[in-house]
Amino acid sequence: MRMKVFVFVLAVSVGAWQCEGSEHGHENQIFPLRMKTGSGGHYIPEVSCQSWRVGVEAHNVVEWKTVPADCEGYVGNYMLGKQYRSDSKTVCHEAFSYAKTLNITSRDIWVFDVDETTLSNLPYYAHHGFGVEPYNATTSDEWVEVGEAPALPESLKLYKKLLSLGIKIVFLTGRPLNQKAVTVTNLKIAGYHKWEKLILKDTSIYHGKTAVTYKSSERKKVEKEGYKIIGNIGDQWSDILGTNTGQRTFKLPDPMYYIS
Ligand SMILES: *[C@@H]1O[C@H](CO)[C@@H](O)[C@H](O)[C@H]1NC(C)=O
Ligand SMILES: *[C@@H]1O[C@H](CO)[C@@H](O)[C@H](O)[C@H]1NC(C)=O
Ligand SMILES: [Mg+2]
Repeated sequence: MRMKVFVFVLAVSVGAWQCEGSEHGHENQIFPLRMKTGSGGHYIPEVSCQSWRVGVEAHNVVEWKTVPADCEGYVGNYMLGKQYRSDSKTVCHEAFSYAKTLNITSRDIWVFDVDETTLSNLPYYAHHGFGVEPYNATTSDEWVEVGEAPALPESLKLYKKLLSLGIKIVFLTGRPLNQKAVTVTNLKIAGYHKWEKLILKDTSIYHGKTAVTYKSSERKKVEKEGYKIIGNIGDQWSDILGTNTGQRTFKLPDPMYYIS
């Protein structure tokens, strides 16, 4: 009798896993195949991966270099499963609920970060351990140069709704100026056709500066031109900290990397 119950529970669990797997296609197959040996990060055994992620989102865990090696499966499941999308949806829903309450003028702008906000690099990270592998500029740039990053669907929806309210969009990204052409192409492929400004990082000015410094400085310039930042959305705390952050800020989830 006990054996039968065990077999039943096992069958149900396997069935549930397969159901998830087929829904998300081959991507979901990637993380179970990887070894959980640690190139990156150290793992604090008493802290669960979920607690670590909440710590990251709350900006209690800062300046981390890689996802703890033992959390690759957890982060992979989170990113490819329903929770990431649901969390993103909540953020974008709150952002639009706020935007609706405003009386929009022609100088009102909304700042969008690009990577993991407007565009998603999940296809790249799914093949690079979901943030367990240390950042690799070579492979990362190669991926950006392909120019086929999909939109984060919830952000695209928010973008369209903000445009319909008459709000102007400014993209502010840490991508360097030499990735401008491919970024323009990629934005259009992903469904973003209209913007007031696309600001990329001039590395001759900002080399060695943090994203907080760079983004604050660029937002300040924009406001000096007479625009008013009524909203600002990004996946990094460095998108929404510093000066000229905007009337309200919105933080999208990102447990894969940290940019200061
Ligand atoms: C928007 O404008 C209307 C009409 O002028 C006014 O009643 C309302 O208080 C304004 N709302 C905000 C948030 O400024
Ligand atoms: C980045 O990836 C390339 C290609 O896999 C590899 O040759 C190179 O050593 C990596 N660089 C670093 C810093 O890990
Ligand atoms: Mg980003």
